[in-house]
Amino acid sequence: MGQSHSISGVADTDALMHVIRTRRSVREFTDQPVPREMLDQMIEAATWAPNHRHTEPWRFIVLEKDGEARARVADCVYEWTWNYVKNPNPERRARSSAEARDEVLETPALMLVYSVPGMNEEVTHENYAATCCAAQNMQLMAHALGLGIGWSTGRLCKAEEVHKAVGAGPDWTIVGAFFIGFPESLKDAERAPVEEVSTYLN
Ligand SMILES: Cc1cc2nc3c(=O)[nH]c(=O)nc-3n(C[C@H](O)[C@H](O)[C@H](O)COP(=O)(O)O)c2cc1C
Repeated sequence: MGQSHSISGVADTDALMHVIRTRRSVREFTDQPVPREMLDQMIEAATWAPNHRHTEPWRFIVLEKDGEARARVADCVYEWTWNYVKNPNPERRARSSAEARDEVLETPALMLVYSVPGMNEEVTHENYAATCCAAQNMQLMAHALGLGIGWSTGRLCKAEEVHKAVGAGPDWTIVGAFFIGFPESLKDAERAPVEEVSTYLN
């Protein structure tokens, strides 16, 4: 059968909900490398996100394990943590800087996701929203593939030097750093029931 263009019944809703519901943020991984094909599948899923005016405003930068770019970024994160994380105790300061650097070096796959600006503030804002949708598509595909993925807006995003080190455009906005690998474990989670967060008006 070719591609379906019907407006209903294109997906198994139970399977879809299962993927959505069981995805958890993961930051602890096995040593197993992440195949490039899986990263490409994730990026392809991301690119099917809605985007107003068809701007396709997302950019994905993958930092290969053991690569030079990963090492440069790890150094930036070390520096940033040393300079900005408040910690008067020099030993703890050195330890937390080294831990932040090591997480960057050791994560099986690491991806930075940026949105590009539009012709005005409104479009730039929409581009950012679209890139967040892309990021979640990517997370769901990762989970469906058996990978774990963690979205971070922490040090990697805050350290300006990181963006220079990976060649991001000076006007791009960082949406997140994504830690990716085969998960050590998956936690359970809860969400508020639909009735608590929704209002139906007539
Ligand atoms: C925009 C955004 C930024 C996030 N930044 C961080 C972060 O910096 N550090 C972190 O540990 N988790 C981060 N998270 C993950 C959330 O903490 C996580 O989604 C939340 O705890 C719910 O858990 P779940 O994703 O497993 O359902 C971020 C999530 C989003 C959507």
